Amino acid sequence: MCGIFAYFGPKEKAADIVLKGLKKLEYRGYDSWGIAAKQKDGRIYIEKHVGKISEVISLEDSLTSPSHLAIGHSRWATHGGVTQFNAHPHADENNKVVIVHNGIFENYAELKQELIEDACLFSSETDSEVLAHLIAKNMDEGFEKAFQKAISRLKGRYAVLAICEDEDKLIAARRGSPLIIGQGEDTYFVASDVPAFLAYTKEVMYLDDEQMVVITKDGATFSSLESGKTIKKRLISIDWEVEEAEKGEYPHFMIKEIMEQKDTLSRTINTAEAKLNEIAKLISRSDRAYIIGCGTAGYVAHIGEYLFAEIANKEVIMRPASEFHLSARFLTEQSVVIAISQSGETADTLEALKLAMNAGAKIVSIVNVESSTMARISDKILPIKAGPEKAVASTKATTAQIAILTLLAHASANKLDEGRQLLIQTMGSINDMLNPRYEDHITSIAGNIMNVQDIMVIGRGISHPVAMEAAMKMKEVSYIHTEGFAGGELKHGPIALIEEGVPSVVIAPDDNFKNEILSNAMELKARGALIIGVSPENAEVFDYWIKTPSAKHANAITHIIPLQILAYKLAVLRQHNPDMPRNLAKSVTVK
Ligand code: AGP
Ligand code: GLU
Repeated sequence: MCGIFAYFGPKEKAADIVLKGLKKLEYRGYDSWGIAAKQKDGRIYIEKHVGKISEVISLEDSLTSPSHLAIGHSRWATHGGVTQFNAHPHADENNKVVIVHNGIFENYAELKQELIEDACLFSSETDSEVLAHLIAKNMDEGFEKAFQKAISRLKGRYAVLAICEDEDKLIAARRGSPLIIGQGEDTYFVASDVPAFLAYTKEVMYLDDEQMVVITKDGATFSSLESGKTIKKRLISIDWEVEEAEKGEYPHFMIKEIMEQKDTLSRTINTAEAKLNEIAKLISRSDRAYIIGCGTAGYVAHIGEYLFAEIANKEVIMRPASEFHLSARFLTEQSVVIAISQSGETADTLEALKLAMNAGAKIVSIVNVESSTMARISDKILPIKAGPEKAVASTKATTAQIAILTLLAHASANKLDEGRQLLIQTMGSINDMLNPRYEDHITSIAGNIMNVQDIMVIGRGISHPVAMEAAMKMKEVSYIHTEGFAGGELKHGPIALIEEGVPSVVIAPDDNFKNEILSNAMELKARGALIIGVSPENAEVFDYWIKTPSAKHANAITHIIPLQILAYKLAVLRQHNPDMPRNLAKSVTVK
């Protein structure tokens, strides 16, 4: 959650550069924002506000006078309401030390109490502010020592940046939340994610957990937070293009990313055969195999459970990552845990993987961000190569993850070629499906249901997790209460909610469950529901029909895409910004 960004370099417009960079990180948190800039006289000026940084045109004069060092933050509140006082950066009462923080300091309450007894004056309700006071207290030992001392007292997960009046230094540290250092000519950037500085440099160094970096005009020095020992870093060139992280001609990232699904699968399909076979072997030799993820990634994991069972006759058990503790006790060194994550930074999933590591189980991660913490702690990685996904609601990463799982399940059944052929055909049908007429048809259905209170989505077999994912997409961006469940479960309770006109989406691919799901649709219709069929063929029970390509084991992919579009259209018609749904953030780095 939250985006943090810093600039240190010769351009004397540090605050403006930080403003631009923060706008690229807004998808990570957008309830309030702030920037601190250090000026020639050494003084630090802060500007902060409630609201979205994308709407800011210019900064206050105090921030725009010449400055070569600035830090900024776009917040996703955890501790303290969304107010100007609680927005970052935070400073000590003399404005000598200024910090920004992503994460949670779990022991902040006791530290705050201690600092208050020490006569420190707090100006926010955040957990973050303690860091500024802790550093300020020890500044007579020098900024670096004071920072190390302060950090050693903090518990929890964080990424932090700090600057001070007395020294020309930028210090950053991380435990659990991402921080990447971009290096240009005599210039350094520190950011939660690469797009913030992609316009300036593609040369990066990764700050790992339990490490800090001190940046001065002479360079960047990395060290271990625990031992203080200096660490050498390699400069890595990244291959993201600036355009990939921009909206281009589209009004929102969400629809751009939905449309990109015409191409993203082709990159996934090219995953090396040897790698897939090696991981498949690991899974088939395991005593237990679990597949975990949170939110949408959790539903993808659930889809994976069906794929392994149906294609490879192998039981791979799905668990929501945040509840994995239940199964972790059964892990051995022969077990495998497959983690699904777009960001590779989700705290709940990382915690689950820690449990797996402690048990000595093998970890396979299926991630989009290849430089992420998850990728780096895993024994094997399967990158999905979907390119930067910026809309909070995941779309193209979802289908790319399903595609990788489809390949992996085929590899587990020794028929990888068949899996690749299937995905190549599926790509062709997605390309045909995603045309303007198709989009218009879905827009008109969305127009007819946009004012309802509730929507139901049902599916059977693999379409059960697809129904839950479709419901999640609609909830996230349209704010209409939507529930997804298994068609067979209808009569056991949820059917009580059906009354005249409740839109019910029925996912009915060409599979063994088609007749049963159509019977469930009849049961709904008999009670007044308005049936929206998502299926390769029309059926009498449908009031509206969204045609889908029949794609056998890839049906989850072809049936979720139109429902992503429906969610998007509902959001736009209801005048919500689908890229920044309320209360959500792209990367959930707190537990
Ligand atoms: C997706 O639409 C959601 N915003 C959310 O559920 C997301 O999938 C979840 O937080 C997991 O994120 P990850 O894939 O980066 O681990
Ligand atoms: N815990 C801090 C706060 O509530 C930081 C939240 C964030 O990561 O944006 O302000």
